[in-house]
Amino acid sequence: MNEADLGPVTLTVARHDTFDPPPELALWRQEAPLRRMTYADGHLGWLATSHSAVRAILADNRFSTRVDLQHPALPYMIRQRAIPLPPGFFLRMDPPEHTRLRRLLTGQFTVRRMRQLEPRIEKIVAERLDEMERQGPPADLVSAFALPIPSLVICELLGVPYADHDRFQHDSAVIVSREESEQNKIEALADLFSFLHELVLSKRAKPTDDLLGGLAESDELTDEEITGIALLLLVAGHETTANMIALGTYALLCNPPQLAALRADPSLAAGAAEELLRYLTIVDFTTRGALEDVEIEGQTIRAGETVTLSLPAANRDPERFEEADGFDVARQAGGHLSFGHGIHQCLGQQLARNEMRIAIPALLERLPGLRLAVPEEEVPMRSAMAIYGVHRLPVTW
Ligand code: HEM
Repeated sequence: MNEADLGPVTLTVARHDTFDPPPELALWRQEAPLRRMTYADGHLGWLATSHSAVRAILADNRFSTRVDLQHPALPYMIRQRAIPLPPGFFLRMDPPEHTRLRRLLTGQFTVRRMRQLEPRIEKIVAERLDEMERQGPPADLVSAFALPIPSLVICELLGVPYADHDRFQHDSAVIVSREESEQNKIEALADLFSFLHELVLSKRAKPTDDLLGGLAESDELTDEEITGIALLLLVAGHETTANMIALGTYALLCNPPQLAALRADPSLAAGAAEELLRYLTIVDFTTRGALEDVEIEGQTIRAGETVTLSLPAANRDPERFEEADGFDVARQAGGHLSFGHGIHQCLGQQLARNEMRIAIPALLERLPGLRLAVPEEEVPMRSAMAIYGVHRLPVTW
């Protein structure tokens, strides 16, 4: 069908059912996986919903991630004109700048390197569980477990003092919120930048044995670039994984057969983490701007047009996954797009996988009676955030 016959849609990200993407996405994917979309100011762009279209666009370097090359009307996007992103923020850079910065970091995030971190993750997880047991039930799983684990791990990896976590967790939450004003976002970004800039200067003066210390020894990067890299890693490295641990646990508690299957066979842990990533797809969408006219699946996206890529819709595509709307910890969920695809595919994906694979089974093993402490409908969902999840998860055991 020709997209012109269908008329433009307005993207909704609000989930009516706790774990499922908005139902319109499935309908749109069936009608036309790449179709016209209206932005907040009435401007027309494109929306991709099928696995093949989203993957093809993410793999194609004729699409840019630069914010200044995209339409600025998405309501909760940080606009480059209003909020200059720091120089090292390579998620929003194209080659060759992106290649130069990412190359300096890939050695730090290899599967081998992440394996070496596993004993530290295990220890951090065990310490949080000890603390939960010491305090006794009930507890908020987000503040007691899901948030501190990735925060402690990323702080240790980067060399950021965890003692400052209140400050950077608050700033990150403002940056990724859809409801905060642009002014608040500018202030949060500036505060986080100045906190990290000071840290980078101290590491330049006195090198430390951690990732930022290593970057500070290099002459290839300016202080501001290292600060921007630190900011990107810190924000990307704890919000996302924390939400996967909390929302993932919540999904398991609401699906007793899946929970029982995972408890019965711990060798399912890695596959279950992969399936949770696919089934829950917490990053609602990403966007790209066409640098030239590009034909994708029979449609021509013109130079200068913006495409919104729905990751949850792609991961529930029945053409790619059997029983795509089902949750099955034993399935082969590999090939999902929850970490993106192409040159910007998540740098921290092995770390995130390891954290989930270690934290969730350890929690279930230590607290065999784990259950919700409130009725399901009272769990506050993060529907106003660019990264989906729960604000709090009251549990008892
Ligand atoms: C479950 C947890 C995570 C999810 C779902 C996630 C998701 C994503 C997605 C979808 C992208 C691509 C965005 C795009 O193409 O527009 C991305 C990029 C990125 N992620 Fe993650 N992420 C997670 C954890 C992490 C962690 C733990 C770190 C850091 C230690 C991290 C660092 C990054 C960085 C640096 C990029 C930009 C890569 C580039 O532009 O080359 N992420 N992530």
